[in-house]
Amino acid sequence: MNNQSLLRLAEKYGSPLYVYDAQKIEAQYNRMKNAFSTVKQLKINYAVKANSNISILKLLNNLNAGVDCVSIQEVKLAIESGFNVKDIFFTPSGISFEEMEDANALGVQITLDSLSVLKKFGNKYPNTPACLRINPHVMAGGNHKISVGHIDSKFGISIHQIESVKNIVNETGLKINGIHMHTGSDIYNIEAFLNATEILLNTVKEFDSIEFVDFGSGFKVPYKEGDIETNIEEMGETLSKRFNDFCVEYGRDLTLIFEPGKFLVSASGSLIVKVNVVKPTPNILFIGVDSGLNHLIRPMMYDAYHHITNISNPDGDEKIYDIVGYICENDTFGSNRSISKISENDLLCIHNAGAYSFSMASNYNSRYRPAEVLVYKGEDYLIRKRETFDDLLKNQIIIDL
Ligand code: LLP
Repeated sequence: MNNQSLLRLAEKYGSPLYVYDAQKIEAQYNRMKNAFSTVKQLKINYAVKANSNISILKLLNNLNAGVDCVSIQEVKLAIESGFNVKDIFFTPSGISFEEMEDANALGVQITLDSLSVLKKFGNKYPNTPACLRINPHVMAGGNHKISVGHIDSKFGISIHQIESVKNIVNETGLKINGIHMHTGSDIYNIEAFLNATEILLNTVKEFDSIEFVDFGSGFKVPYKEGDIETNIEEMGETLSKRFNDFCVEYGRDLTLIFEPGKFLVSASGSLIVKVNVVKPTPNILFIGVDSGLNHLIRPMMYDAYHHITNISNPDGDEKIYDIVGYICENDTFGSNRSISKISENDLLCIHNAGAYSFSMASNYNSRYRPAEVLVYKGEDYLIRKRETFDDLLKNQIIIDL
C-alpha cells in the first residue's frame, strides 16, 4: 500500500493503527497454491494464531482455505467466520482432555500430540479418525523460541515412540487418518524441510489408513528488501514431485496439507505509529512513538527485524535513529536505523506487521490495543475498534475495601 493511502487511513482512524491489505493475502495464497499445482489434493490451512481477526478469516475462507486452530476459542472464531467444520483442523498441544472433547463435539479434525491423549481419545472415540502429530527430531527455525521439531521440544509424539502408538491404536481400534508435523517458524533452508519430509513419509508408511499428510509450516518471509526467504516455488517443485511419487508407492492419493501463518499474512500488515518525541542523547537519537511492546512484541521477544519507514517525509535526508516505544521497559522497535528525517508528529510505518503482531498484543501499562483496518477491493473497513477505558474495566470486579 502506498504512503498516501496509509497517511489517509491514519488520519481517518487515528494512531496507532494496524492496516491489512487483502490483495497481498490473496497473492500469497495463490502463490502457494501455484507452487504446489501438480499435487492432486492440496489443502492450505491458515494458522489462525497469526492473525485471528474474523474479517481476515472470512477473506481466507472466501479463497477456499481451511484453518489450523490450536485452541477451542480459535475453532469457535473460525466457525463464527463461516468456515465449514470439515475445513477446521485442530492441532493443540498440552490442552485439557475436556477441551479436546469440546472440539470433537463440534466435529472438527483432531490432531493428537501425546501418547496419553492418544490413549484417552482412542478409548473414548474409537470410531472418530484422528491425526497424529509426530516430532521428527530435526532442528529448524529462525530463533530457539520458535524451533519446535527438535528432540527437546514439548511438541508431538517422538518418532521413537511409534511402536507405542501402534500398540495403543491396536488396543483401542482408533483409525489414524493423518500424520502431522511442524518443525518451527522462519525456516528458509529447504533442506531442513525435505529431511523432515522423509521422516514424515516414513511414519505414514507405518499406518495403512492415512488420508492426509500435514507438513505444518514455518516458511520464512522477507522482513526487508533483499532479505532471505523460503523459495516456495523451488520447494513446491521438489516436494510436490516427492509427494506424488510417495502417493504411488503408498497406493492412494493423499491430501497434502500446509498450515501457513506468516507466509499468508505477514507482509499484508503495517503498524502505523505517530512520533511523540524526538530525543537526542549523547550517543543515540531516539524516536519515541505512540506504541510499544504491548502492540508489537516480535522485535523484543525474538529479536525480529521489522522495517521502519517515515511515511510523512519519505524523501528527506536520512539519519540514524533508534525507534522506541512508550512502555516503561526497554522496547526498541529498531536500533541504528537509517530513516528519512523524522520530526515530532510524523507517522512511521512498521512493516510486516500482519502476523503475530495484533494477535500477540496486550494491555500492558494499561494501554489500549489499536484499531485494525482491512483494505479490500480499494475500500477501507474498520475491522476492530480501538479499545477504550471501558474495555480495561470490563472484567474487573470492584470490591468494597
Ligand atoms: N502450524 C503449527 C502447528 C504451528 O504451531 C504454527 C506456528 C504454524 C502452523 C504457523 O507457522 P508460521 O507459518 O506462521 O511460521 N510468534 C512467533 C511465531 C510462533 C509460531 C508458532 N507456531 C513469531 O512471531 O515469530
